[in-house]
Amino acid sequence: MCGIVGYIGGKQAAPVILDGLSKLEYRGYDSAGIAVFGGEGINYKKSTGRLKVLENLTRGGADMPGCCGIGHTRWATHGVPSNENAHPHFNQKETISVVHNGIIENYLQLKKFLEKKGYVFVSETDTEVLAHLLDYYYKGNPMEAIFRMLRRVEGSYALGILFAEHPDTLFAARKDSPLIVGQNEEGCFIASDVPAILKYTRRVTYVDNQEIVKLHASHMHFYNIDEEEIRKEPVLIDWDENAAEKAGYEHFMLKEMYEQPKTVTATISPRIQKGDIRIEELDMSDEELAAVKKIHIVACGSAYHAGVTGKYVIERLSRIPVEVDLASEFRYRDPILEEGAMVIVISQSGETADTLAALREAKKRGFRILGIVNVVGSSIAREADNVLYTWAGPEIAVATTKAYTAQLVALYLLAMKLAKVKGTLGKEEFEHLLGCLERLPYQIERLLNTKEQIQKFANRYLAAKDIFFIGRGIDYAISLEGSLKLKEISYIHSEAYAAGELKHGTISLIEEGTLVTAVSTQPELYQKMISNIVEVRARGAFVMAVTGEDNREIGKAADYVIYIPETAPVFANSLAIIPLQLFGYYVAVGRGCDVDKPRNLAKSVTVE
Ligand code: M6R
Repeated sequence: MCGIVGYIGGKQAAPVILDGLSKLEYRGYDSAGIAVFGGEGINYKKSTGRLKVLENLTRGGADMPGCCGIGHTRWATHGVPSNENAHPHFNQKETISVVHNGIIENYLQLKKFLEKKGYVFVSETDTEVLAHLLDYYYKGNPMEAIFRMLRRVEGSYALGILFAEHPDTLFAARKDSPLIVGQNEEGCFIASDVPAILKYTRRVTYVDNQEIVKLHASHMHFYNIDEEEIRKEPVLIDWDENAAEKAGYEHFMLKEMYEQPKTVTATISPRIQKGDIRIEELDMSDEELAAVKKIHIVACGSAYHAGVTGKYVIERLSRIPVEVDLASEFRYRDPILEEGAMVIVISQSGETADTLAALREAKKRGFRILGIVNVVGSSIAREADNVLYTWAGPEIAVATTKAYTAQLVALYLLAMKLAKVKGTLGKEEFEHLLGCLERLPYQIERLLNTKEQIQKFANRYLAAKDIFFIGRGIDYAISLEGSLKLKEISYIHSEAYAAGELKHGTISLIEEGTLVTAVSTQPELYQKMISNIVEVRARGAFVMAVTGEDNREIGKAADYVIYIPETAPVFANSLAIIPLQLFGYYVAVGRGCDVDKPRNLAKSVTVE
C-alpha cells in the first residue's frame, strides 16, 4: 500500500509533494516523510501519525526549500510505524534517498549480503536494502546503479529515487505497484495515483512493469529493464478535480454515498440503448456469450460481496452456474477451470494484489479475463482482456460505497445480457427488469433521504458489543456487505450469517438486547425469515428488519423496520445496502471513529 509522490520543476517541491500526499493518504496513514534537494544535499523530515504532523513539522513545506523532492505516506508492513521505519530511506552517507510502495520479497537475503559488505541498517523495513544496494552499485552513473539494483530485487515496487550528486534529476521505477508520471509547463511529477497530481496536470503516463523513468524539470525519458529507451504516450485524464474533494460533506464516505444515484446512472445508462443492453466492452458476439458454460468470479472484500450477489442474480436470470472465490484463496487452490468458462475479476482500485495474482493465474491457464474495474488504467484494467468500467469516479473513503453499488449494477447488466442471449428471459420480463434497473437511482436517492431516521436509530447502538446481520439468498450477500461496512469503520464486532444457518451454532451468541439486522427482500423467503426473526427475538435479540414496502408481515415480526421501495427482487440489494451503509456510517460517527481512514486499513491493498 503506501503512497508516493515526487516533483521536479520550477516550483517549490515540498508544498507540491505534501499536497499530493494528502490525496494519497487513503493508501496508508501511519507515518509520512519527505526528502528535498537543498543547497547542501538532501534534506529530509519524517514523522509518525497522519500527514498533518509532517505538514506542521515542515510548516507546510516552507522549511524545506528546493525544487526537487520525493514524499511518502506509509501503511506499515515491515516494522511498526516509527520515524526510523518511515520513508524516505537512505544510504549511510545520506546521498541516496528512496521512497517505496510494494514489498521486496528477498530483502532478508539482500540485507545479509549488504551487512557482510559492511552496510549498517537503521530500520526494520524491506525498503532500506534498496538504498544500500543503490549505494553499493553507484559509481557515478545513477541509471546503471538502478538497473543493477532492480535486477537483484524480487517483489513489487513503485519507487522514487534521489541522488545527491544529480540534483537536476528525479528517478522512478515500477513493478507490480501502481505508478504514474505527469508533466505540465512548470515541471514533472511522479505519483501512486492520479488524484495526487490532478491539480497540476491532466497529462498522465502510466508506467508499466519493469520500466524506469528519468525526470527533469522540462522533460522525461522512459527505459525498459534492458536499458533501452522507449516511447510512451500520455493520456488525458478527464476527471473533475473536485471529485477528489469533500465538497462540504463531513466525510468522503458520506459524500460518496450521496453520489450513488449519479454513479449508478453513469454505470448503467451508456449500456442501455433503445430498450436493449449493449456491453460493447465484452467484445463477444451473442453466440459466444450464449456458449458460456460457467462463470468464475474472483475478488476481495466488498468486491467479493458484489460477486456473491452477482452469483445469485446471474444464476437466477441466465441459469449459468457461477462460482465466487476470494482472490486470496483462488490463487493458491489450483482451481478447476473448465473449457467454456468465463473468468470475471472485480476490483474498485484495480490494484489489489490478490485479485491481480488471481487474474494472472487464470490467464496463465489460457482463460480470457473480464475485469469489472473502477480505476481507469489500473493494473487489473490493463491486464484483463476486456474491461467493463464502473463509472463511479474516484473513491477516497477506505470503506467502499459508490464503487460497490456500481459493481452491483454492472453485474446486473451482465446477467440480463447473458439471460437474453441464452433465451432464459422472456421479452416482457426483460422489459420489466430494464425499467426496474433504470428506476434504481431515484429509489437510492429516496433512501438516502431517510438518513436522519437511521442516524437516530444508529445512536442507540454506539456501545454495542456485537451486531449480527442475517439474510437468505441474495439477502445473505447484502448482509455480508452490511456487516463489513459496520465493522470496518466502527470497530464493533459484527458477523453476517445465512439466516438458516443460525441455529447451527451462532444463535448461542444472541443475548438480551443484541441487535440483529434481518434483511428480507425475497418474497419466496419471507416466511422463512419471519421464523428466523422469531427465533432470535425469543432469545432476547432486538431485530431491525430491512424489507420491501409491501411486506407488512415482517414489519410486525421485527422491532424496527426500514422499508425499501419496490423493485425486482434480483435488484433489491442495490436498495437494501443504502440503509446499511448509513447505519454503519452513523454508528462510526457517533463513536467518534475516523470514518474515512479506519485504523489498520488502507484503500488499495497492493500487498498480499
Ligand atoms: O480495490 P478493490 O475493490 O480490489 O478492493 C477490495 C477490498 O480491499 C475492498 O473492497 C475492501 O474490503 C474495502 N475496505 C471495503 O469497504
